[in-house]
Amino acid sequence: MKNIILTGDRPSGKLHIGHYVGSLKRRVELQNSGKFDKIYVMIADAQALTDNFDNPEKVRSNITEVALDYMACGIDPKKSTIFVQSHVAELTELTFYYMNLVTLARLERNPTVKAEMKQKNFELSIPMGFLTYPVSQTADITAFKANTVPVGEDQLPMLEQAREIVRSFNGLYGETLVEPKAVLPDNKACLRLPGTDGMVKMSKSLGNCIYLSDSADEIKRKVMSMYTDPNHIKVTDPGDTEHNPTFIYLSAFSSPEHFERYLPEYANLDELKAHYERGGLGDMKVKKFLNAVMQEVLEPIRLRREELAKDIPAVWDMLYEGSEVARKVAAQTLAEVKKSMRIDYFADRN
Ligand code: TRP
Repeated sequence: MKNIILTGDRPSGKLHIGHYVGSLKRRVELQNSGKFDKIYVMIADAQALTDNFDNPEKVRSNITEVALDYMACGIDPKKSTIFVQSHVAELTELTFYYMNLVTLARLERNPTVKAEMKQKNFELSIPMGFLTYPVSQTADITAFKANTVPVGEDQLPMLEQAREIVRSFNGLYGETLVEPKAVLPDNKACLRLPGTDGMVKMSKSLGNCIYLSDSADEIKRKVMSMYTDPNHIKVTDPGDTEHNPTFIYLSAFSSPEHFERYLPEYANLDELKAHYERGGLGDMKVKKFLNAVMQEVLEPIRLRREELAKDIPAVWDMLYEGSEVARKVAAQTLAEVKKSMRIDYFADRN
C-alpha cells in the first residue's frame, strides 16, 4: 500500500503558532522524511464557507494568506501538492454518495461540530452544509486514498467519522476506499496550545493568537502581556507551571540550545520550571526568555513569508497547478467509487 498524506486547513484566517506546533511543523517533517509517496495539502475553502457563506470575500482573501503560511513554514510545492478544495468538484460528488452512509444522529454527536455550533450560536438554525462537513472531509481524505492525516487534536472526531464511512462503503460496495489514521504531535504541549490569555484555545475571535506573520514587535508585545499564574503575585511566591501558558509555550518551542544561548543559568526547561514552582523566579524573566525563543523560531518563517508575499500571482499559479493535479487524482477515485457502486453506466462510452 502506498503512503499518502492528505491534510488541510480552512482559510478563515491567517495561521497562528497553534497551527504551527499542532500540525504544520509535523507536516513539514513528514514531507521531508521521504517516507511518503504523495502529499496533498488542501486549502479547505468550501468547508470554510459552511460557516462563512455570508462572507465569501473573507474566505477568498485568506486562501492566499494560508498558502503563504504553508510555504513560509516549509511546505514545498515541489514536494507537496497544495490545492484549493472548491476547484475539485469531484469532492462534492463523493460527499453526496457518502451522505447516504451517515445518520443525522451520528452527525449531531460529533464533539467538535457540537462545540463549534455552540460557539457560533447555531442551535436553532443549523445550516445543513455545516452539519455535514465531516462527510465532505471524508471525501477530501478518501479521494486521495490518504492513509495518514496529520492534524490537530480537534480533528480526531473527523477521522473517526471518516473511518466509519470507509468501513461501511467497503462493506456495502466492496473494498474501494482506504481507512485513514490521524497523526498528532507527540509533545503534549503542542496538542492544544492555549491562547496568550490562558483560554484553552487560540482563536481569532478571542484576539489571543500569535500569528506566523506577526512582526517582531507584535510578538514581543503579545508575549510580554501574556497571562501567567494569577496566584504568583510576588516573585518569592511558588508558581504553577502546568496551567501557565508561558510554560506551555516553552514546552512547545524551547530547546536546550535556546537555554544555552539566552538563559545559560539553567540547563533546560525542567530546571526553569523547578525554580518557578519553588518560588523566586519572576514572570518577567520567563517572558523575556520566551520572547527570545519565539523570535528565533518565527523570524525565518516571517522573512520567507514576506519574500513570497511580493508575488501573489505566483501563489495563485502554484495553487492552480496543484488544484489541477488534485482534480485528476480525485476523478480517478470517483470513477472507482462509481464502479464499485455499479453506477458507472457510461464508463465504457469514452
Ligand atoms: N477541518 C479542517 C480545519 O478545520 C480542515 C480540513 C478539511 C481537513 N478537510 C480536511 C483537515 C481533510 C484534514 C483532512 O482546519
